[in-house]
Amino acid sequence: MNNKLLLLLLTLLSITCKCYAFSGGAPELVCDDMMPIHLVPPQRSKLPYIVGANNTEIKGGEAVQIEIGGGRFKGLMMEVRKGNRATGKFLLDEDENDFKTINCHGGKNNVLSHQNNANKKNKTVIWKSPKNPGKYTIYVTIAKDGFVFWSKIPAEEITVV
Ligand SMILES: *[C@@H]1O[C@H](CO)[C@@H](O)[C@H](O)[C@H]1NC(C)=O
Ligand SMILES: *[C@@H]1O[C@H](CO)[C@@H](O)[C@H](O)[C@H]1NC(C)=O
Repeated sequence: MNNKLLLLLLTLLSITCKCYAFSGGAPELVCDDMMPIHLVPPQRSKLPYIVGANNTEIKGGEAVQIEIGGGRFKGLMMEVRKGNRATGKFLLDEDENDFKTINCHGGKNNVLSHQNNANKKNKTVIWKSPKNPGKYTIYVTIAKDGFVFWSKIPAEEITVV
């Protein structure tokens, strides 16, 4: 391969990675499949992270704390779904630099996404449930780095009574 072609390929690759991998977080088009555009397929092994709520049965409109622990990660997308729609609202601290919220399925702040490329560990976020009773499932996509990630994994169920 000649040098010019190699340079072109590397440039294209780096542009693609900057746009899609996980520098700025999840673009809206991943609301449904929670599948960030990576250059490799997701892992098939069990999710090596722990994702859990401080309470799995709450009243409508109440909030839960959701912890993401068990190791370092760079990218995260989280939706608490009823059926196949993201529900509720993530409430972030003003000084939260690692995460941001995006709007999916006509809701507001109902999806959590990372907003930088730094290693993160043991993070806690708050999700406020909607009023409707029912079963809600926490789904996560977690990227250890640009090449190793687990996609749309159901992590825990929350019942709103
Ligand atoms: C869980 O976290 C939420 C949000 O911080 C809080 O309001 C609630 O009291 C906590 N519940 C328990 C059982 O600790
Ligand atoms: C995460 O940090 C909190 C305190 O911020 C602590 O209570 C909890 O045990 C930690 N969890 C893990 C898995 O390290």
